[in-house]
Amino acid sequence: MRLKDCHNFNDFRTLAKKKLPSPIFHYIDGAADDEVTYKRNTSAFNDVDLVPNVLRGVEKVDLSTTIFGQKLDLPFYCSPTALQRLFHYQGERAVGKAAQKFNTMFGVSSLATVSAEEISSLVSTPKLFQFYYHKDKGLNDAILERAKAAKFDVMALTVDTITGGNRERDLRTGFTSPPKLTLESLISFAIKPMWGINYVTRGKFELPHLQDHVKEGTSTATSVGNYFSTMLDQSMNWKDAENLCAKWGGHFALKGIMSVEDAKRAVDIGCTGIMVSNHGGRQLDGARSPFDQLAEIVDAVGDKIDVICEGGIQRGTHILKALSIGAKACAGGRLYLYALAAAGQIGVEKALGQLRTELERDMKLMGCTKISELSRKNLRFRNA
Ligand code: LAC
Repeated sequence: MRLKDCHNFNDFRTLAKKKLPSPIFHYIDGAADDEVTYKRNTSAFNDVDLVPNVLRGVEKVDLSTTIFGQKLDLPFYCSPTALQRLFHYQGERAVGKAAQKFNTMFGVSSLATVSAEEISSLVSTPKLFQFYYHKDKGLNDAILERAKAAKFDVMALTVDTITGGNRERDLRTGFTSPPKLTLESLISFAIKPMWGINYVTRGKFELPHLQDHVKEGTSTATSVGNYFSTMLDQSMNWKDAENLCAKWGGHFALKGIMSVEDAKRAVDIGCTGIMVSNHGGRQLDGARSPFDQLAEIVDAVGDKIDVICEGGIQRGTHILKALSIGAKACAGGRLYLYALAAAGQIGVEKALGQLRTELERDMKLMGCTKISELSRKNLRFRNA
């Protein structure tokens, strides 16, 4: 299988599996406990059917949307994800440049392998910085200042990682950052020599936002679950989020909101958006899917802040359904990560392009020419 054979999400996943040492593939591909939520994040879209309209004159489709005061050409963007250099040597540089080509937003993780400053110099389109609230308050302040100086447009505080999710695939493979060769994993790395050559020859693996403050993740190998459980501040509360929002002083979002109650509190503390998300099913297994939970959150706060549906998105129709419920945009990690692993920047560009083509086609088949024409009138819920 090659890039030219990748026509959808699952094709990119297959190619990524071929290219990556298995501990790294399973870190992306895996989720918490029995991965029930992970699967539901995507299957939820299939419990809703589309009811198209016809004869509407649809030769031109405008997919643009405005979130956080930024006009994007596409109603979907690349969520921040950690450790991208492990998936492809081009890492965040590739994802940022691909997002820029499509004039959509790109999220940079606190656990990114390229610095906020470098991303800022490479990418002039809207950028989001993802914030983990650490026990080390000096580190928190430093991250905030760097993102501000690098002129990031949006700050998103992740609120669903208060402790590490139980990612059993990582326990089995022994996945850590930085990767550690163990007796068990030796073969899985040895049979993917190209990955190893790139890892060793393409510059040092770094976590530039963290490494001057904590050694975990760069010089001390740790699992992501363990990093969350030991490095992040479990006392984090609404007051802390409010203070952070005020300190940032710009567009601010909470990433990982699932309840109406929390969505309303997000409005109260000054957020301009929320990501309805369960962290790709990687944290609390059994949590409801973002798509299932979207309508009640949109009904409660959709007229006050930007509601983003994040997770499980693999198809243009998934985006179309979430926008029809009232999400302002959709976002995802795996929707571009397999493509990054498969082929770097050209892979991500192909994945984003395919999703755009699908969505454009789906809009035409629905009889819609702009996002504002989508509504719940075009949906029927099977179990309703
Ligand atoms: C994860 C974090 C790092 O889910 O976002 O692995």
